[in-house]
Amino acid sequence: MNGSIRQLKPEEFQKCSDIWDLEKHAEMATRFLSELQSGNRLTWVYEQDGRFLGEISLVKEKDDPDYTVPGRRIYVSRLIVRRENRRQGVGKALVKHVVSRAAEMGYSEISIGVDMDNYPALRLYWQAGFRELLFVGEDADGKYFKLLKRLSP
Ligand SMILES: CC(C)(COP(=O)(O)OP(=O)(O)OC[C@H]1O[C@@H](n2cnc3c(N)ncnc32)[C@H](O)[C@@H]1OP(=O)(O)O)[C@@H](O)C(=O)NCCC(=O)NCCS
Repeated sequence: MNGSIRQLKPEEFQKCSDIWDLEKHAEMATRFLSELQSGNRLTWVYEQDGRFLGEISLVKEKDDPDYTVPGRRIYVSRLIVRRENRRQGVGKALVKHVVSRAAEMGYSEISIGVDMDNYPALRLYWQAGFRELLFVGEDADGKYFKLLKRLSP
């Protein structure tokens, strides 16, 4: 791993197609771009040799009090690493990065939602300290957990 993490500018959003198929997930891509432009979504990318290998976002306000509480709790959204570059520490580095950014921004809690059958993500989040179970739910994609990590002051 010799890349680096930097914040994504809204005008660079199309380059996330290095990581995932924006056309296939057009509705999600449109929503993410509009949130980026409004400033509600902050995205960081892991870049190496001019290519994006992974991304992660923080969302300030989401319509769910488990996920966001203004000024106190911020939500981790859309952690994804390019398939060919998984298991190289990129995801772990991205999570560590946003935990630090959230603390710098003055948040004391950080939340995520993760599908119960997503063992790689669950393991990563558990290791990163997301150990408080807020909610167990079920949606169209199946059962999921809402998890919380408290940030040290
Ligand atoms: C989940 C995901 C982001 C992990 O990214 P990654 O860069 O491969 O993860 P890392 O290499 O940094 O691994 C960090 C830890 O995650 C866990 N992990 C990652 N991939 C794993 C796998 N295939 N099996 C088991 N544990 C795994 C391990 O605990 C690992 O630590 P270790 O290597 O010390 O054991 C990646 O698999 C991905 O993009 N998945 C598809 C999108 C997704 O599910 N995102 C999460 C939505 S909530």
